[in-house]
Amino acid sequence: MTVEYQFPENFWWGSAASATQTEGGENGIKSKNIWDQWYEKEPNRFFENVGPAVTSDFYHRYKEDIANMKKINHNSFRLSISWARLIPGGRGPVNQDAVTFYNNVIDELIENGVEPFVNLFHFDMPLELQEIGGWENRDVIEAYDDYAAVAFELFGDRVKKWFTFNEPVVPVEGGYLYDFHYPNIVDAKKAFQVGYNTMVAHARVVKRYHENYDGKIGIVLNLTPSYPRSQNPADLKASHICDLFFNRSFLDPAVKGEYPQDLIDLLSTYDQLPVTEEGDKALLKNNLVDLLGVNYYQPRRVKARDTQPHPDSPFMPDWFFDNYEMPGRKMNPYRGWEIYEKGIYDIMINLKENYGNIESFISENGMGVQDEDKFLVDGRIEDDYRIDFIKEHLKWLHRSIQEGCNVKGYHLWTFMDNWSWMNAYKNRYGFFSVNLETQERTAKKSASWYADVSENNGFNE
Ligand code: BG6
Repeated sequence: MTVEYQFPENFWWGSAASATQTEGGENGIKSKNIWDQWYEKEPNRFFENVGPAVTSDFYHRYKEDIANMKKINHNSFRLSISWARLIPGGRGPVNQDAVTFYNNVIDELIENGVEPFVNLFHFDMPLELQEIGGWENRDVIEAYDDYAAVAFELFGDRVKKWFTFNEPVVPVEGGYLYDFHYPNIVDAKKAFQVGYNTMVAHARVVKRYHENYDGKIGIVLNLTPSYPRSQNPADLKASHICDLFFNRSFLDPAVKGEYPQDLIDLLSTYDQLPVTEEGDKALLKNNLVDLLGVNYYQPRRVKARDTQPHPDSPFMPDWFFDNYEMPGRKMNPYRGWEIYEKGIYDIMINLKENYGNIESFISENGMGVQDEDKFLVDGRIEDDYRIDFIKEHLKWLHRSIQEGCNVKGYHLWTFMDNWSWMNAYKNRYGFFSVNLETQERTAKKSASWYADVSENNGFNE
C-alpha cells in the first residue's frame, strides 16, 4: 500500500518510561530515593496521596509488558535504571537482585525484537546522596561516574544506546526553584550549581563511555520553544532569556560543549554564576553527545513583564519574562497544556540550523488525560484524541525529515499508564491502561493504531 507519511527505513517506533514511575519501589531490594523520602514526609503533596511503592509493578510484570510491546510492533523502548536499586545508597556494593532484574528486562526486550535504550538518571536521586547535597556536591559527580561505569560494564555488551539524564532541567526547576521536587529548596544560586554540576557529571560519563565502548551515548532534553507574544523588542528579549534558561542551559553544553555567552553574562550581572573548577571547560568541550533525545509536550509562550519583581523576592528566571496565554490557543483540556504540533518541527529545524543537525529522535511526546475511563466503550478506552495528537505531531516531524532534519525515531510517553511524580496517576498517557487495583493491562485504541503505523513505517491520512 502507498503510505502518504512514509518514514525513513529503520525508524525507531516505540515508547519511553522510567524506573521510579513503573517498577514499584518496594519490589526487590532497593534503598530509598528522594521520592520515597518525600512521600513518607508529605504524602499530601501527591495526587490522591498515591506514592511510589507499587506504581505499575513492572518489576514483576515486565514479561507481559514486553510481550505487549511486541504485539504493537515496538522496535525500541526507553527505560531507566534505578540508581538506588542497582547500588543501594548510591555508592558501594552492587545489588545482585537488581543486576538479575535489569539483565532479564534487557534480554527479554532483545528477544522480542525491541531495542533497549537505557537512561541512567530520571529524577531519582538516591536519598543518601541527596543528604550530602545531591548535585550541589561534587562528590555526587564521582558517585554517578562510578555508577555509570558499573552499568556500562554490566549491560553495555547488549545496550548500544545510552542516555545520561532525562530532562536535567526539571530537577533544577522542581527541587531548587518552584517547589515540585524534593528537596523543595528555593534558591536560584543553588539551582544553577545543580544544573552546572549535572552537566559536568554528564560530560564525565560521556567521556568514560567513548573511551571504552562503541555504542552511542546522548542526553534527553525537554526542548520547549519559547515563542514571543510579538516582535516587539521587549517580547523578543523576554523569549530569548527564557530560551537561555530553559533550553540552551543544557542544549548548548551537551551539543556544542559550551554555555551561551549571553547566559554567562546575565548570571554574572546578578551574581548567580555557579562555582566551576579548572578542567571543567575542556571536559565539556571535548565530550559531546552522539545522539539527542527530544521530549516535547507543549510550547512556552512569553511576553515582557508588565511589572517589576518585588525587590525582596528571590532571584528567579521569571524576573525576565511573563507567561503569555495566547488567545485561541488549542488546549489539552484535561492536562491544561497547550497543543501546538508545529513546535516539534520548529525544534528540529533549530537543531538542523544551529546545532549541526545532530542525530536526534523524539524521546517523549504524549497526551495526559484525567479520568480516561469515561472513554471506555465495550471495555476499551477509545482514545481518538491521543491518535489525533500523535498523528498531527508525526506529520510535522515527517515534514522536518523531508527538509533534511536528522530525526531517527518517535517514542510516545508512555507505554502503559504510570505514576507521575506529584501527579501520581492523575494523567494517563499510556497505550495500555493499568487498573490500579488488579494491575490488569488493557490496550487502548491508540495501541492498535500505533501497531499499524509502526508496521507500515508511516500512515495515510
Ligand atoms: C516528562 C517526564 O516531563 O513528563 C515524565 O519525563 C513525566 O517523567 C511526563 O511523567 C508527564 O508528566 P505529567 O506531569 O503530565 O504526569
